[in-house]
Amino acid sequence: MPRVLAEPGVVTLLGGIDTGKTTFGLELARRAHAAGLATAIVDADVGQSTVGPPTTVGLRHVRHAGDLERDVLRTDALAFVGSVSPRGHSLSLVTGTAKLVARARNEGAELVVVDTTGLVAGLAGQRLKFHKLDMVRPDHVVGFQRGGELEPLLGIARRFTTAKVHEIPVGDDVPARSVEDRVTYREQRFAAYFAPGVSRWRVKPTVFMPSLPPGFDLALLDGLVVGMEDGCGHCPGIGVLEFDAAEEILRMVSPVSEGVRGLRLGSIRIDTSGRSRGPVDLRQLFGTE
Ligand SMILES: Nc1ncnc2c1ncn2[C@@H]1O[C@H](COP(=O)(O)OP(=O)(O)OP(=O)(O)O)[C@@H](O)[C@H]1O
Ligand SMILES: [Mg+2]
Repeated sequence: MPRVLAEPGVVTLLGGIDTGKTTFGLELARRAHAAGLATAIVDADVGQSTVGPPTTVGLRHVRHAGDLERDVLRTDALAFVGSVSPRGHSLSLVTGTAKLVARARNEGAELVVVDTTGLVAGLAGQRLKFHKLDMVRPDHVVGFQRGGELEPLLGIARRFTTAKVHEIPVGDDVPARSVEDRVTYREQRFAAYFAPGVSRWRVKPTVFMPSLPPGFDLALLDGLVVGMEDGCGHCPGIGVLEFDAAEEILRMVSPVSEGVRGLRLGSIRIDTSGRSRGPVDLRQLFGTE
């Protein structure tokens, strides 16, 4: 940490699941803020989110030390990804992360901590992290490693970026969280997002990205998570679509209702209490590639 604080900039955290990335990132942000650095967190973990609801990348500028408690991390900006795992969504994840890191810097952050998902294995992990590093161009990469599993990624960071690479061995005392714990946490994060109260409004079937094929059965979109876009590259929030069978219309259910010009379709269904109703493959739904 002292080496990062001495030369602040963008710091990308890499590591498998349950390796202590988020705990480290919050502590680094705390110390940076205490040292008087303008500090921001970009949370690119779309499943176990700390900033913003799941399915999004979130940006938070640290204004007070108290901002950094896990359950009070408010959100200054969002980028929609639409899924709770990076698989099949790396394009939105990479562009959204790059967009919010650039925004954090433009808004004055001197130290930007980029937290990431635990997808580090295989071709998917390598490609995702390569493109993320390539777009974000971090000054530091901090790798959390148990037993050599991160070597391919740290090699990529060393060879394809100018970042200083720091390795932190993961101790045996970092506990593993069960799949159920992860699902429960995610539901709570969704529920907390919708908790302040929602409004409902009718949406036209022409507002979506991707646009719906002709004759599309709107009932298939019931429960789908959607991201709002303001037309200027910003995501004011997310919502859930509701199909009204009596009127054969779609309604948007969301705590945010202003500044919306278009809606991006996500790839999971939930209800507003946060419970998952399962993944959705848009290609299957649309009958196209
Ligand atoms: N250095 C550490 N020593 C002991 N326990 C730790 C340490 N770092 C984190 N922990 C604990 O380990 C758990 C997982 O930590 P954390 O959430 O930071 O990991 P992560 O890599 O971000 O996980 P995820 O894959 O869910 O994003 C937490 O309960 C945390 O309190
Ligand atoms: Mg984490």
